[in-house]
Amino acid sequence: MGKTLKEVKLGIIGFGFMGHEHMNMLASKVPGICVKAVCDTNENQLKDVPEGVHVYSDADDLLKDTEVNTVIISVPNRLHPEMVKKACDAGKDIICEKPAALSVALFDEMMEEVKKAGIHFTVHQQRRLDPDFRTAKNVYDQNLVGKVYTVQSTLYGINGNMHDWHVYKSEGGGMLYDWGVHLLDQLLFMIKSPVKTVYADVRNVINKEVDDYFKIELYFENGVVGEAELGTYFLADRPKWFERHWFIGGDKGSAYSDGFDPEGKVARTTRLLTNVPGTITMSASGPTRSFGPPQPGVLVTEELPKASTEHKMFWENYYKAVNGEEEFLVRPEEVRRVLCLMDAVRKSGETHQTVDFE
Ligand SMILES: NC(=O)c1ccc[n+]([C@@H]2O[C@H](COP(=O)([O-])OP(=O)(O)OC[C@H]3O[C@@H](n4cnc5c(N)ncnc54)[C@H](O)[C@@H]3O)[C@@H](O)[C@H]2O)c1
Repeated sequence: MGKTLKEVKLGIIGFGFMGHEHMNMLASKVPGICVKAVCDTNENQLKDVPEGVHVYSDADDLLKDTEVNTVIISVPNRLHPEMVKKACDAGKDIICEKPAALSVALFDEMMEEVKKAGIHFTVHQQRRLDPDFRTAKNVYDQNLVGKVYTVQSTLYGINGNMHDWHVYKSEGGGMLYDWGVHLLDQLLFMIKSPVKTVYADVRNVINKEVDDYFKIELYFENGVVGEAELGTYFLADRPKWFERHWFIGGDKGSAYSDGFDPEGKVARTTRLLTNVPGTITMSASGPTRSFGPPQPGVLVTEELPKASTEHKMFWENYYKAVNGEEEFLVRPEEVRRVLCLMDAVRKSGETHQTVDFE
């Protein structure tokens, strides 16, 4: 007879955009996990709670609910540490939204509480499962472009002005704390090498208090430069523009993809290192030998090694991990490393200097 696995009976603390997403993801879709309760201080958010789910307006009351053994904390960023502490005191297992804390120091305090309480703790850095990222990671892991020198990860949008608490620094607003966590986490998860130095340009282009543009360069010990660029005010009328893009350059080829559902190719040349002078092409800006279009037969392409991962796998892993059947997809020491990197990024952004890292 197989062993009986512990069911995850979840309480969602903060039932806004992401709280609703958790409910939609979990409503009877992941075996072993069910939502028992939700809580939000704004009653307007609680109008569409499915029948049978307990509703609270105060997190303390949800945490007293004996039918709940686990909480997902999806309140605004500033409130994560105090909610984690309360949940630890109540002995509940915790999944915290990213960024777990606004600094490494706050995260370390949080982890002290977690250790004392002896509970399970992970962070919802589920974009490790994004298909565009996993496809790029497949290119990297399968060595499809030779020795990699650059990995460029970009995300562009047009809605530059942010909303609600996301516009306030004190609340943990801004894009670095928003998508920045994911973009850095992905690069660290893909390029398994220490980061020697970091350079970052972090700006408030149209927002008053918080950053809405950043470009971060990570110089890894293995020679790869990882680049993450995000712009919320990149106005353009081009297909697939407001989505994810990847470019991976190696000494045997390149790989590129556009979109959350990635479209692209792995490209190689038939003329690598053959000593043939480039054909002169006349461009609108004069003649060029190196930057004209490829001659027929010179460029060969193949399909991207597409990944079919999805965010539901975060929860499937969570259920197995609390039952000791798998390792947690996102471990506290990995969360801490991303937060250390965020500290370095902010320092570089403020000083316009390269910052030594690991
Ligand atoms: N992992 C991801 O991909 C992802 C995506 C979006 C947001 N997030 C994270 O989710 C969290 C919430 O972001 P959001 O965009 O859903 O914000 P949101 O404003 O839409 O939702 C937050 C909710 O928390 C409620 N709230 C505030 N204080 C509370 C309290 N003391 N007790 C209970 N409820 C309270 C608010 O009323 C609101 O409904 C943030 O940490 C954010 O970084 C993660």
